[in-house]
Order: sequence, then structure tokens, then C-alpha cells
Amino acid sequence: MTAAKLDTPIKGVHHGAFRCRDAEQTRWFYEDVLGLTVEGAVMSETVPGTGDDDPYLHIFFRMANGEYIAFFDAPNSADPSWFKRKESFDMHFAFEVDSEAELDAMQKRINDMGVSALGPVEHGFVKSVYMYDPNGIQIELTVRSDDHDEIFARERAGLKEELARWTSHTRGQKVQKFGAESVDKRGRVR
Ligand SMILES: [Fe+2]
Repeated sequence: MTAAKLDTPIKGVHHGAFRCRDAEQTRWFYEDVLGLTVEGAVMSETVPGTGDDDPYLHIFFRMANGEYIAFFDAPNSADPSWFKRKESFDMHFAFEVDSEAELDAMQKRINDMGVSALGPVEHGFVKSVYMYDPNGIQIELTVRSDDHDEIFARERAGLKEELARWTSHTRGQKVQKFGAESVDKRGRVR
């Protein structure tokens, strides 16, 4: 079985961007610990588009496939509470490696650098180790299992029915919690 045919020109991630507490501390983690390369850096006194006065440094770290993870260091607008450890259901970021040997080697390297990398956890379609970056973001390193695509294809077969069941099962709770308007398809985040 092959992956689903796509109806979009979107081919991958250019960057995911997050706020960091300190650019140098973040560089240490992503460059020295994980081995990414810091490539792009933009410094500005004001926010593009709005012109708000919020000096910031925006840095980009390159992965082996040319995609990036990026950070904003903007102390004026930073709220210290944002940097608390975030629950994995709320936010986490997963990097992919090619083999279990690479996953094991990375886990050892990270632990040797004094960062606690836990796992591996076997998820069936992937196997992962987990750690936190200096900004409270849970970072996952993952390797696909040999039958990753088959597992996803099997799940895809019943996905629409499963989603419909889940939606009807949880809709009442969500309407009560978030309001009917918020869970409507055109619901807006306020
Ligand atoms: Fe994950």
C-alpha cells in the first residue's frame, strides 16, 4: 500500500517557529546537543507588518533535509510562564532519524551532554526518545518502523468512520466547554 494521493502543492515544512527564552541557550541545545546548524538570523527593532516596538532575534536551525526549526528571542514581549514545561498533548516537536542505530546514538549523545533523553518508547509505527529543550518544548526523536506506511494505510481505511464516531461522541462535551460557535467548522479563535 502506498501513501494517500495528495491534492496540494505543499511538499514539506519550511520551518516551525517558537519563542525562546535566550537565543544562545537555544543555539547550544539545537546546535551542540542535537547537531543542527544555525543558518539564518534576522534581527529587528520592530515587528514586520505591525510595526510594534518589540526588538527580536529570529534564528533558524537547519536539519539534514533542508527544513528548519526557528525561534524568536524577544525579551520585551516574553512571558516567563511560557517557558514552563509544556504537556506533550499541548505541544511537542518530533525530529526524524533514519535508523534505530542513529536513534540509539543520538540518545547516548544527548544524555552525555547532560540532557535527559528518555525512552525509547515503542509506538508501533514509530519508536521515539523524548527530552525537553531549554524553552519547555518537548522534543521527540523518532524512527519509522519498517511497516510504518502499512500501519497508516490500514488506519486510513476506517478513518472517516472513526472520526465521525469520535465527533458525535465528544461534541456535547465540547459545546459545553468551548461553546457551540467555537466548535463549528467556521469557528474562530479569539
Ligand atoms: Fe509525537
